[in-house]
Amino acid sequence: MIKFILNNTPISTDKHSGTILLDFIRYHKALTGTKIGCREGDCGACTIMVGDLRNGQLHYESMTSCLTPLGNAQGKHIVTIEGFNGDGLTPVQQAMVDEGGTQCGFCTVGFVVSLQGFCLSSKPQTYENAIAAIDGNICRCTGYKSIERAAQRIVDHLGNYKGQDKMNWLVEQGYLPAYFKTIQQQLETLKAELPQPITPQNGALTPVGGGTDLYVQRPAEMRKTAINHFLDQNELKGISRKGDNIHIGAACTAEDLRSSTIMQEHIPNLHAFMKLVSSTPIRNMGTVAGNFVNASPIGDLTIFFLGLNASIVLSGVGTKRTIALKDFYKGYKQLDKQQGEFLEEIIIQVPQQPIGFNFEKVCKRTHLDIATVNSALQIKLSGDTIIEAHASAGGVGPTPKYLQNTCNFLKGKPLTEATIQQANEVIQDEISPISDARGTKEYKRLLLRQLFYAHFLTLFPDRIQLAQLV
Ligand SMILES: Cc1cc2nc3c(=O)[nH]c(=O)nc-3n(C[C@H](O)[C@H](O)[C@H](O)COP(=O)(O)OP(=O)(O)OC[C@H]3O[C@@H](n4cnc5c(N)ncnc54)[C@H](O)[C@@H]3O)c2cc1C
Ligand code: FES
Ligand code: FES
Repeated sequence: MIKFILNNTPISTDKHSGTILLDFIRYHKALTGTKIGCREGDCGACTIMVGDLRNGQLHYESMTSCLTPLGNAQGKHIVTIEGFNGDGLTPVQQAMVDEGGTQCGFCTVGFVVSLQGFCLSSKPQTYENAIAAIDGNICRCTGYKSIERAAQRIVDHLGNYKGQDKMNWLVEQGYLPAYFKTIQQQLETLKAELPQPITPQNGALTPVGGGTDLYVQRPAEMRKTAINHFLDQNELKGISRKGDNIHIGAACTAEDLRSSTIMQEHIPNLHAFMKLVSSTPIRNMGTVAGNFVNASPIGDLTIFFLGLNASIVLSGVGTKRTIALKDFYKGYKQLDKQQGEFLEEIIIQVPQQPIGFNFEKVCKRTHLDIATVNSALQIKLSGDTIIEAHASAGGVGPTPKYLQNTCNFLKGKPLTEATIQQANEVIQDEISPISDARGTKEYKRLLLRQLFYAHFLTLFPDRIQLAQLV
C-alpha cells in the first residue's frame, strides 16, 4: 500500500508502485490542472511540488510528475496546482497575470508551481534563484520576458518577509492555503505508520532511483515491473567524510551533491558545475547511481566522478566489493556488475591542496540539454610539476572515458603550454568519437581539445596563456 498526502487529502492506494504519478493525479484523482506535455521531463508542464521530512524539517522540491513512479511518493506531500488554491489568486499567479506571463496557458501551471516552490524554498530569494527555479519550464508562445518580469515582482514581494515563521508568513500573504501549516504534523504521523522500506539487497526487484532514465526509455514496461524504490532508502543516502575519504550514498541526487557543505568545501565551483546538469526538477530526482548505471557515454555525473578518480561500492546478496569507477565500464552499456548487485556508495579521496578540479560541458543549448562532449580534470602539483592527474571525457567513445594514457603522460611533466599541447596529442590517440546527431567526429575531437585547454586556462590563469596554446 502506498500512502502519501495529495494536496490536502490523505491517499492510500494499492495501485502498482511503478504507475506514473502524473497519470495517477490526472486519471485516478481527476486533478487535471497538471498538464501532459512531452512526458520526457523536458517541458515542465507536469511540474509538481514534493514535500518531505528531512532531519525533522519539511522541505519542498519541484519534480516532473511524468517521470515519477507512484512509489516515490510514499510518505510525502505531493502538491499540484490545485493544492495552492485559496481564496483568490496567489501572489505568484497575480504576478503572472499582471505581467502578461501567460497566453495559451498550457505551460503556465508548471511555471506557477515552480515559482511557488521558489517561494517555499530556503534558498536566498533573489531574482537569479527565481529564474533558476523555472529552468525546467518551457513556454512555446508567451516568450520569457513577461515571465521574467513576473519573477521579479515575486522577488520584490518576498522582500517583505522579515524572518518570522516562513510557513505562517506565506499563508498570511496568500501564497499558500492554511492547510500547509498542518503538513509537517501529518507527515510525521504518516511516516511513523509506514512499513520499513524493502532492503536494497533484493536482487529480484529492479532498482529505480529518480526514474529520469527509466521512465523516458521504458515507461510502459515500468508500470508493470516489480520495483525496489531506492530514492529514499536511508542506507543509500547521505554524504559524509570518513578520514581522508568522502562517502556519497548512491541514491544522492545531483541536488544533494550541490547542496552538500562537504562537497562545496572541497569543490569550490560545485554549484556552477551542477547547474550544467539538466534542470532543477531533474536534478531533484536523478541520482548519481542512476547516472552511472545508465552508462551513457555522456553522463555528466559519471564524467564528473571519473575526473575525481572515484571508487564505487557494489553490494549483492551477501557480497560487497569496491572497484574504481573507471573499471565499471566494459563496453557500450556493458558494466562490471553482476545480476542482483546494486550500487551502494561512491567514494572519493578528499582533494588535497594544492589541487585543481574543473568540469566542462558543451551542448546545443546552455541548459536542459545533454552534452555533445563533456570533460573533467583533477590535477595535483608539486611546485611546477604535475604529480597526479585524472582526466575524463564523454561523447568521444562508446563508454564514459577515463583518459588513462593522458593521465600517465601528464604525471611528472612540468605545467607548461607545451605539456598541455602534447597531452592533447595523447588524447586524440586514445579517443574514438563517431559522427552522430550531435556532431561529426572531427568536431568532437576539436571540442575535447578545447575543453581540455579550458581546464588549464580556468585552473591556472596566471601560468597558462591562451595565446601560447593555439
Ligand atoms: C529532461 C532530462 C534531462 C536530463 N539531462 C541530463 C544531463 O544534463 N546530464 C546527464 O548526465 N543526464 C541527464 N539526464 C539523464 C538522467 O537524469 C540522469 O542520468 C540521472 O542521473 C539518472 O538517475 P535516476 O536516479 O533518475 O535513474 P533511474 O532512471 O532511476 O535509473 C537508471 C538506471 O540505473 C539503475 N539504478 C538506479 N539506482 C541504482 C543503484 N543504486 N544500483 C544499481 N542500479 C541502479 C536503474 O535500474 C536503471 O537501470 C536527463 C534526463 C532527463 C529526463
Ligand atoms: S510532461 Fe513534459 S516534463 Fe513532464
Ligand atoms: S503560454 Fe502557451 S506555452 Fe506558454
